[in-house]
Formats: sequence, structure tokens, C-alpha cells
Amino acid sequence: MPIQYDAQGRIFHIQHTVTSMLLSVETLPNGYDTVLFRHFGAPVSPDCLQDEELQRDRWISFDSYHAAYPYALPTAGHGDFRPAQLSVRDKDGINCTLLHYTGYEIYDGKQPLCGLPATYVEQESEAVTLVLLFCDPFTGVTVRSSYTLFEESGAIAVHCSITNNGEYPVTVTKAMSVSITLPGDYDLLHLHGAWARECTVERAPAMHGERVIRSRRGASSHQHNPFAVLLPRGTGEFEGEAFGVSLVYSGSYSITAEQDELDQTRLVAGINEEDFAWPLAVGESFQTPEVVLLYTANGLNDMSQRYHQLYRTHLCRGYWRDRARPVLFNNWEATYFHFNQEKLLTIAKSAAELGAELFVLDDGWFGKRDDDTTSLGDWVEDTAKLPGGLKELSDQIHALGLQFGLWFEPEMISVRSRLYEQHPDWLLCAPNRPMTPSRNQHILDFSRADVQDYMIDTVSDVLRRGGIDYVKWDMNRHFSEIGSAQLSAQQQPGLHHRYILGVYRVMEALTRRHPHVLFEGCSGGGGRLDPGMLFYMPQIWVSDNSDAVARLSIQYGASLVYPPSAMCCHVSAVPNHQVLRVTSLDLRGKVAMSGVLGYQLDPTALSDAERAEIRAQITLYKELRHILSDGTFTRLQSPFEQNVCAWQIVHGDDLLVFAFQTLQIANRLPMKLRLHGLLKGHYQTADHSKTYSSDDLCAHGLVIPFTRPHDQLLGDFSGWMMHCKRVK
Ligand code: GLA
Repeated sequence: MPIQYDAQGRIFHIQHTVTSMLLSVETLPNGYDTVLFRHFGAPVSPDCLQDEELQRDRWISFDSYHAAYPYALPTAGHGDFRPAQLSVRDKDGINCTLLHYTGYEIYDGKQPLCGLPATYVEQESEAVTLVLLFCDPFTGVTVRSSYTLFEESGAIAVHCSITNNGEYPVTVTKAMSVSITLPGDYDLLHLHGAWARECTVERAPAMHGERVIRSRRGASSHQHNPFAVLLPRGTGEFEGEAFGVSLVYSGSYSITAEQDELDQTRLVAGINEEDFAWPLAVGESFQTPEVVLLYTANGLNDMSQRYHQLYRTHLCRGYWRDRARPVLFNNWEATYFHFNQEKLLTIAKSAAELGAELFVLDDGWFGKRDDDTTSLGDWVEDTAKLPGGLKELSDQIHALGLQFGLWFEPEMISVRSRLYEQHPDWLLCAPNRPMTPSRNQHILDFSRADVQDYMIDTVSDVLRRGGIDYVKWDMNRHFSEIGSAQLSAQQQPGLHHRYILGVYRVMEALTRRHPHVLFEGCSGGGGRLDPGMLFYMPQIWVSDNSDAVARLSIQYGASLVYPPSAMCCHVSAVPNHQVLRVTSLDLRGKVAMSGVLGYQLDPTALSDAERAEIRAQITLYKELRHILSDGTFTRLQSPFEQNVCAWQIVHGDDLLVFAFQTLQIANRLPMKLRLHGLLKGHYQTADHSKTYSSDDLCAHGLVIPFTRPHDQLLGDFSGWMMHCKRVK
């Protein structure tokens, strides 16, 4: 049994071959029972706690025991002066919730979260769940804190739900999903960025004083991905401990780490507490989003691989989860807003000839949208551009043997739209304040059930009428001056969370109504690259920056937690539209096929040689697609640290190695790229020209010449790829 309760020692042991978590029940000096977070890390036995005295008396230190104890569920207002997980104000406005541990449940499997994305099981044997039960006898608030251990990955998914079982209303002012306290000091690694510059890896000491990764934007955002890792100084890609924290949430969030005065590090993660308060009437409950914790003793790659495995198979869902994702051609950078039916058909026809499987019509097909100042909300095709309507275009695209996809931005509204004329109160706004423009658009109030219902029916209708096979779901502005016309003053502070719950409800309804439609997430590129989105949409447009060199860092950073099968990557035209860089088609193809391959250019504007090269790329990608999407991805060399970036993918007996050089350096020795974790044996190149032993590849390294003229890893912005099979 991977979760055990030792009734004598009062210790819960969440155990796995790669990790242990120990939670002990203790009686506090005030007579309350509580649960302490005693160990998270490598496998141990509960006996390790036997000599550990809890320091109860801290009388001369200005602190009580509260400031020292590693509470499993720390609350505010009791002299635990570190970040709290939960804060509840009672009917008199007093913030003092002391939770009394009252019992536990252990069951096989995992319950779904209601209205929130979460990891799931298909068989009960895939996970086991511990629920700790708490009660505050003064307010009657009860809490269920759940820890689910996944058998295969060793990941532990945590969330809690809070119910007002008292006699008076209360207000939850902070409801984080998880709290962990670890002895010692750690670095904090996270992914920061901006639009077109997502997923930059940054690592710095967590330090005394709070270190916060946060989004106040209403979306998880490009600025900080909702993911962090605590790691000792020596941890690298292949060695050392790491504690991953990944929030399954797409709204405003925070992850706070603080080394306390006794040099323990506490981390809490969940909904951004700055924009949050939730009144709980008697009998009402509140559920936090889920956080997925992952411990490894074997470096960051091992952590990432286990996140990939879990998210690919126990977070992504539905028809497309395990299916080969179609190679798409998207018209955005080919035409922007300026197209007509004939132009689209020429692109689609040409794309079909090159081997594409899906044609995606991006922004500009609806209302009177010839630029970004108008029409969001009016999801009716513009017959000036599409005289035969969506249906006719869809039939024509299908007749070419392609699937047909469409761009939507359902959460947005233009003031210049019919929808705004009809429903000005549907817009999120702070009345009588000037509204800050952002891409000339505003946000629909998705906290309202009538807005949600309208959008479910509207999008559904277009999908059905247009015979649509794929949706690109975009979100191109963040929150400012927000308020909802329908919420009370007490409810307004919860608007950020109410909004995202509404978004999730719409996504759930649409993905259920249209189970065969492939949904792709997007928010100006990677502004909502988060596990919450992956629950509804198995792939995400990682960045609006499609330059191959910039993409190396973005995809490398994203791979810390997101599997390649979730990352959509396009080959685009040169000079690149975001950074003006000119790179070879070969490099662009190799970088893009490291994720889900697509194209975002006008194929009719290419030379015959370029068209032949793209045809060959697509053919190769289709051959290797199952390796690329289902294989084990390993980062070998970081673009943040070196001029050559490399990764490998292993699937069964297949091995793919990719290496990319940014700038050529004169007069240097050939590079030796050490591979990692190969099965013992010999690997032969796909053209049978060379055979390597796994030991040689891992210990000595694969020699990649920089200067041999026939080799492709030569010169600035070059890519190199090798496909081998293990031979018996
Ligand atoms: C966002 C997306 C782009 C494109 C445009 C269209 O920026 O990230 O890929 O769809 O919107 O307006």
C-alpha cells in the first residue's frame, strides 16, 4: 500500500520507489491536534522521525512554537510568521483560523475536481489518495486536504477544499493549494519571460525574505510560468535533488518561497492572494486548484520526464490525447488580415501538395475584421472575404484532403462590435474609470453564466455549421480596470478566479460537445502555457516568436515541465517577422519538428527547391512523429549556457539526437556530445552507415564536427539531426 498510516506513531507515509512524504499528527501545547510536514524527498522509513524532538518552548525568542513548526496546512493569525496556506475571516472580521486535525481517509484512485482542471486516473490502481480532515471549532470551517500519489511517475497532486459548516458566513481571504516546508536552503528555478520571449530559465537562491513568482494578469502569463523548482545548489540536469511545483491553473496565481529564521524553506502555491476574497455562506464550499509536486534525486531531466509522462497521459484528455497530431499550415503570417477565399484556397492547395494535413484560418475571418480594432465577439463569417460562407470554404478545404481549422478569441470583445452594442454590460470594467486599451480590445465577463452560455452556443454553432476540425483558442489581453456588473461588493474580489472558472466551464462544454475537434491553446503565443489549459487542449502554441534561434531557448525552457507533444512549433518565413533574422529552412524545420510541426508561411511564395525541402521535412516528420511525440525527451545542452544546444529523444529502440549551433566559432575542436540514459547495446544510424555502442555514446560522446565541410552543423544558425536504431 503506497500510503500507510502508523496509528501508534501517528505518521502518514506516502511512499514510492523514488520518493517519500511523511506527515505526522501532533498534539500542540494548546491541546489541538495538527499535522506536520516532516519529510519530502528520497525514500525513507517513518523511523527517521524517532529521534527528532519538536521544539515546543521558544519562550525567549519572541516566537511561539507556531513560528517553527512545519505545518502541513499553515493558517494565518497564530504566530506562524511565514506565508500561510489558508486565511479565513470570521463573521466579525477576525483572521484567526486554528485548524484541528479530526481524521483521515485513504482510498484508491483519485476524485475529479469540480469545475477545475486536474490530473486524473483511468484505473483506480493508478493512484492512491490521502485526505486529511480539519475543523476550526470556532467558525465551523472544515478543510479536506488531499494528496494523491501517482504510481507511475511518483508525482503527488495536492489540493484542498474548504466548507463553511458553521452558523455564520465567513470570508476566505487566502486559499493556497499546497504548503511544503523543507529543511535548509535552496535555489529557486523558474521560467520567466514576456510576449515572444517566453520560458527563460532563471535560477537564484530562495533566500530569507519572500521570493514570489506571480501573475496579476488574469492569465498564467508570459511573465512567469506557473511552475517552480526548489533545488540544492549542486543539482544539474542529470544529478541532484529537485522539488518541482507545477500549478494546474490558468488564472492569476502566486508561488512564494521563503527561508525562515530557522533556515527552513517554506513554499506555498495557489491562487494569487492579492486579488482574492471569497465569501462562504453557511453550507458553501470552496475548492483550490491542484498543484503537482514531483521529487527527484536524479536531476532536472528526470523531473521533467516524469512531468511529461504524467501530463501526457493523466492530464491531457480525449480523442487527440494519443493520436498523431496533424501537420498544419496556418495563414496568419502568410496573409495577416488580408485574404480572400481564393487566396486561402491557393495556400491550402499548395500546402496539401507539400503533405500538410490541416489548414488553419487564423484571425480576420469574422465580422468586419480587417485590422485589430473591431469585431471580436461577432463570430459570423465576413462574406466580403468568404462569399460562399464558412461552409463552402470548409467543403473546398476538405475536398483537398485537408482538415479545416479556425481561430477564435472567445473571451474578448471589441467596442466596435455588434455584441458590444447589444450587451455593453458584458464587458469587464471598473465603471466611470478610464479603460486602458490593449490591442484595441476588452475582456468579456466570463464570470457570468449568461456570457458563458452565449459563448458555448455561439462557438458550437460555428463549429457545427462550418464542419470545423480544429480550433485555435486565443486570448490577447490581460486584466486592468476590471469589475463585473453582476457581482456584489463582497464577491468582486474573487473576480479573477470566477473569471477563470467561467473559462473552464466554457472549455469543458465545448470540448465535450465536440470531442473530435482538436483544440489548441494560445494566448499571444505562450501566455497561457500551463497545465490547466492542457486539460482541455492537448497542444499549445508556445510562442508568437517563430524564429528558430529564439525558439531553441523557448522550447528548451518549456521542456522543463511541458512535453514536446504539447508544444506547437511552426516553420515561418525569413526574414523572421518577430526578430528579422534569416535562418535556413533546414534549421527551422529541425527546431519545429522537435515539437508538433506546423508551418506559418505562404507556400506559394516559395521557390521549387524550398517546396521540395518542405515536402521532405514533412515526410520525415510523419515517419518520426511517434518517436517525437511519445518518446523520452532529454535536454543535453542548454542554449542559455552554450553556443550549441542539444536534446535527444528515445522511444523503444529509436534514438533521435538534435544539435543546434547559434554562431560559428573559429578554430575549435569537434564537439563531443554525451548522450544519456540509453539502453545497453549498439545503435546504428538510419542509413546503416555507422554503429555506436551505447557506452561510447554516453561516456565518450557523439562527435559532432564543426569544421568538416560536408557536415551540416557548420556555420551560424545550423541544425544537425541523427536517427539511430538499437540493433540486437
Ligand atoms: C495572437 C496569436 C497569433 C495570431 C494573432 C491573431 O497574437 O498568438 O498566433 O493568431 O493573435 O490576431
